[in-house]
Amino acid sequence: MLIPILQDRLRSAVVAALPDADLSRVLIRPCTNPAHGDYETTSLMALAKERRMNPRQLAADVLARLDVQDLCEDIQISGAGFLNFRLNLAALQRAIQGAARGEHLFLTPASRPRTVVIDFSSPNVAKPLHVGHIRSTFLGDCLARIFRKLGHRVVTDNHIGDWGTQFGMLLLGWKTTLRRDALAADPFLEMERLYKEVNQRCKDEPGLRDQARAELVKLQSGDPENLAIWREMQKLSQAQFDSVYARLGVSFDVTLGESFYNPQLPGVVKELTRLGLARESDGAMAIFSDGSCPPKEDPFLVQKEGEWQPNPFLVQKSDGGFNYATTDLATLEYRLKTWAPDEILYVTGAPQQLHFRQLFATFRRWHPDTRCRLEHVWFGSILGEDGKPFKTRSGETVKLTELLEEAEERAAKIVAAKNPDLPAAEQQDIARRIGMGAIKYADLLPNRQSDYVFSWEKLLALNGNTAPYLQYAYTRTRSLQRKGAELGDLSAVTGTFVLAAPEELALVRHLINFGFTLESVIADYRPNFLCNYLYELAGRFSKFWENCPVLKAEDPAVRASRAALCEVTGRVLGEGLGLLGIETLDRM
Ligand code: ARG
Repeated sequence: MLIPILQDRLRSAVVAALPDADLSRVLIRPCTNPAHGDYETTSLMALAKERRMNPRQLAADVLARLDVQDLCEDIQISGAGFLNFRLNLAALQRAIQGAARGEHLFLTPASRPRTVVIDFSSPNVAKPLHVGHIRSTFLGDCLARIFRKLGHRVVTDNHIGDWGTQFGMLLLGWKTTLRRDALAADPFLEMERLYKEVNQRCKDEPGLRDQARAELVKLQSGDPENLAIWREMQKLSQAQFDSVYARLGVSFDVTLGESFYNPQLPGVVKELTRLGLARESDGAMAIFSDGSCPPKEDPFLVQKEGEWQPNPFLVQKSDGGFNYATTDLATLEYRLKTWAPDEILYVTGAPQQLHFRQLFATFRRWHPDTRCRLEHVWFGSILGEDGKPFKTRSGETVKLTELLEEAEERAAKIVAAKNPDLPAAEQQDIARRIGMGAIKYADLLPNRQSDYVFSWEKLLALNGNTAPYLQYAYTRTRSLQRKGAELGDLSAVTGTFVLAAPEELALVRHLINFGFTLESVIADYRPNFLCNYLYELAGRFSKFWENCPVLKAEDPAVRASRAALCEVTGRVLGEGLGLLGIETLDRM
């Protein structure tokens, strides 16, 4: 909000001092050490270094041309050539007043909106969504919401795994041992049983494996019976996925599974071969290193026994079948042609890093002129409290629906203990919002690239960096609203906004960085920046709430300003939680 304005002013001053400077690299950010001021720029040092200038001299030259009197107190040059800015009271008052009037919420929509395709969730047919899909679903959904909020065009695409070798086994099982009643009762359970049983039997009866393969070939060549069974599996799975998504409040613009790209696959391999990018290797077709980058960075090389050896990207198997890689190449082409995106994000776990490095490198060689940014937004695993991969007590992978049930049950107990007098239906609704919010927040809070330990006690705690704590802070802002409704509109600040107490100032200084925080999230694909911003906001709000009486303030101007501060804090908390995919409550 204020950052873009300050940045523009700084750029004007820089261009006056250095007419040929690259202004896109002149940036302002919140001070890493608040003792130095509100905002800082380190960009001048980089500019000076390139030109072999004295950085403090450049800082002084820029400062002499800088016109920010209306926004800042005096500006300091510090260290090797930083500029530190401290906002003046009038600028803080104007910012909070504009937000209180509903003119903005401290964010500026993108001046050049980008088109971003986000591939996330992407579960597999005939298998339930499990904890491994949780992070993808929450991260992808949250990023989509924030990109949209900042004015970008977003296409969310659920790339369902609905094609592949597993269907050979599934078809064979379906034809030989399917139990219709079991399928109706719990489709995933029955389909999993089919798969596991055939897979087990294949180990003892070698002939069975060929039968399964034959079923797969029949499916791939368009056999009507196998296609019909496959469609039924797809439909049953999708219905289950949809009910989970509805519960999570997650939606997709398109759901184009792997099978959608099936007709394109032979053409992809043909084209790669014609261009000399793919070549034969043991009967298969694969992409090899072109030696264009150092071995350490080359995704087509791997170090084995102290030597760099080929690590090819397989696009056609020796039996003629296509694979995950081929499908992803076709998918990439389709997305570029259909939406002309500036950015495509793939939200999947850490184990797929090599796949995406090879995919992107292959695509760059295939379409060297494409400008689109390709990004694997990868994440670590969820661990149990024993530090091992998160499993049920019997050692099975945890299903998402079971996890959600348990979250709601546990939240319901807390709500019943705290608020026994609320009607049952309201208690249940509160428990649902708290349980779901707690799980989402616990997942979004850690740096996505690290593993995290799943702990019920921690994620449901009312004190700590948790969703319930933030939801609680939000209810406090609303409680005042309810009283306000009785007393007339409290927060209508008619004169100048009164900001005097240190807690009021600290709160406003944090509120104004909401937009900057959202920008940082999408620059690095890290929702944890928003979680931490909201936690800090709730902390500053709590200090304000304890030290600055609102309704009891004697001066009506102070009362109105404080009430407006509560109201705006509530809006930012509510909006921020909403962007994390978390619902708020008016009381809890
Ligand atoms: N279905 C895959 C899985 O469950 C994820 C697909 C991710 N998207 C992609 N375009 N490869 O691991």
